[in-house]
Amino acid sequence: MKGRDLLSIHDLTTEEVYKILDVAKDLKAKQKAGIEHHLLKGKTLGMIFQKSSTRTRLSFEVGMYQLGGSALFLSGHDLQIGRGEPIKDTARVMSRYLDGVMIRTFAHSDVEEFAKYADIPVINGLTDLLHPCQVLTDLLTIQEHKSEQLKGLKLAYIGDCNNMVHSLMYGCAKVGMHFVVATPKGCKPNADVLANAVEDAKKTGGSITVVNDIYEAAKDADVLYTDVWASMGQEEEHEERCKIFKDYQINSKLMEVAAKSAIVLHCLPAHRGEEISEEVLEKYQDVIFDEAENRLHVQKAIMALTMCE
Ligand code: CP
Ligand code: NVA
Repeated sequence: MKGRDLLSIHDLTTEEVYKILDVAKDLKAKQKAGIEHHLLKGKTLGMIFQKSSTRTRLSFEVGMYQLGGSALFLSGHDLQIGRGEPIKDTARVMSRYLDGVMIRTFAHSDVEEFAKYADIPVINGLTDLLHPCQVLTDLLTIQEHKSEQLKGLKLAYIGDCNNMVHSLMYGCAKVGMHFVVATPKGCKPNADVLANAVEDAKKTGGSITVVNDIYEAAKDADVLYTDVWASMGQEEEHEERCKIFKDYQINSKLMEVAAKSAIVLHCLPAHRGEEISEEVLEKYQDVIFDEAENRLHVQKAIMALTMCE
């Protein structure tokens, strides 16, 4: 994967997904054992943030440090890009200074344009459409808490058809999982993403299903997943969206229909009392905070695989 971008899980083969997970496990074991592994010594990652972040910023920055390199936090407000410098010029300039770039922004097409003009690896740290690093992390967490073999597991997502849903569709499809999203009538996933994921799932024996009933989705699920009802950029719609999604919550009642050994994942930040009840979040907090920790290990793997000499 040397020199490659990571914009979408759809661009990866199944083997590449498992390769990332395997390298992440190895790096995690080494870090826990206190073994230094300076695979990116002397390398610099630029991190462009046009939206807020806790986990993504910390995990990329710490990850780069642990790999022997350094990371630069670049706020969208401070860069000339915020004053209208074209993306293609910014990409070409940054390629002269940096060894890799992570971008968190609004339009997915902006990351694609940046990657087109950059000649260093570009990693998608979340767009309105996709959040691939989070979902690769989720797959590692499912391996750790459910089974190494992901194929055949059922993941039910409850709530808004947002960037998490799209990347979960791609991730589950690549590894042969059964993905079901329960979302209100009128709320639909991106049509292109859905079509691509259905095609990918056909090749791996997985499936992608969209329903309106949360109990239908959660029935016998091995993993229940949710995310905020109002994503970054939708703050002004929060009140209205709370009305639309009020019945789309993971709570103890819903957990009764899931598989007995089901786990709950949440990419965080969580809004207790909205997409997830306090009780369920606290009951599954060990898995959810392992999931947050795993961002570090998975992104170290992604950087090592794409940015290594
Ligand atoms: N899950 C996630 O991407 O968290 P941050 O928004 O804090 O980076
Ligand atoms: N859907 C959320 C994910 C945050 C990690 C958002 O885009 O705000």
